[in-house]
Amino acid sequence: MKCLVEVSNLFMRYHSLNGETDALVNVNFSVKKGEFFSIVGPSGCGKSTLLSLIAGLIIPSSGQVLIDGKPVLGTSEKVGYMLQKDYLFEWRNIFQNVLLGLEIRKKITEENKNYVLNLLDMYGLAEFKDKYPSQLSGGMRQRAALIRTLASKPEILLLDEAFSALDYQTRLSVADDIYSIIKRENKTAILVTHDIAESISLSDRVMVLSKRPGSVKSIHNIALSVDKKSTLSSREAPEFREYFNKIWKELDVYV
Ligand SMILES: Nc1ncnc2c1ncn2[C@@H]1O[C@H](COP(=O)(O)OP(=O)(O)OP(=O)(O)O)[C@@H](O)[C@H]1O
Ligand SMILES: [Mg+2]
Repeated sequence: MKCLVEVSNLFMRYHSLNGETDALVNVNFSVKKGEFFSIVGPSGCGKSTLLSLIAGLIIPSSGQVLIDGKPVLGTSEKVGYMLQKDYLFEWRNIFQNVLLGLEIRKKITEENKNYVLNLLDMYGLAEFKDKYPSQLSGGMRQRAALIRTLASKPEILLLDEAFSALDYQTRLSVADDIYSIIKRENKTAILVTHDIAESISLSDRVMVLSKRPGSVKSIHNIALSVDKKSTLSSREAPEFREYFNKIWKELDVYV
């Protein structure tokens, strides 16, 4: 598999009125096309900073991010960014919300509309397309936010704690939905999560960051003996606990 995202010698220092904060030091890793890659690390270690650098929303103090071999210098249509909060606009119905990115890019074509309608249908939201966000459950809103991110057909999805606002039951099923959408649509995903079990159950690889300033502590290849990965079946795999304990120990902030 070829490398789609390459992060090399990345440093990020924030300058503010209160002084300087080193958020990331010398971060190196790459993500292959089609991979589901997770990032875990203590609070404040620079995970969101790292996603914002990959998204081209901020520029690094030094080092670089390459996507498809080209340096990231700003935002790009290739990258979709989904945050913890769904940011649906309450005054727009679901269809208008999921079309927003295409509208901004002046890309509302019949073909794109049909693509989005198909996604709504596939993920159980077709009959809610004329409803407003307040009429949907948390899980449905999160799926709508994902469809809005997918609507512009990004190759890479950045998911920052995308499931953490949901109750546990919904979280498992939305995570499964998102996993299967990403695999079916042959996207590449980079997921930031606090949930070790979630990272192991969904990912091909899990990267552990140290406490701030974040640097790469380890990258685990996740090989689970299950027929089909899902949030529940993965947890049944005999290897699951071993990965969990290893990553748990590495995340110990006192180490
Ligand atoms: N715009 C900013 N200006 C100054 N400092 C910032 C800015 N954004 C983040 N930081 C600092 O950089 C460090 C890393 O922040 P970041 O949000 O990337 O961490 P995180 O790993 O995503 O944390 P969490 O797990 O709590 O979401 C923190 O110390 C934070 O205070
Ligand atoms: Mg964060």
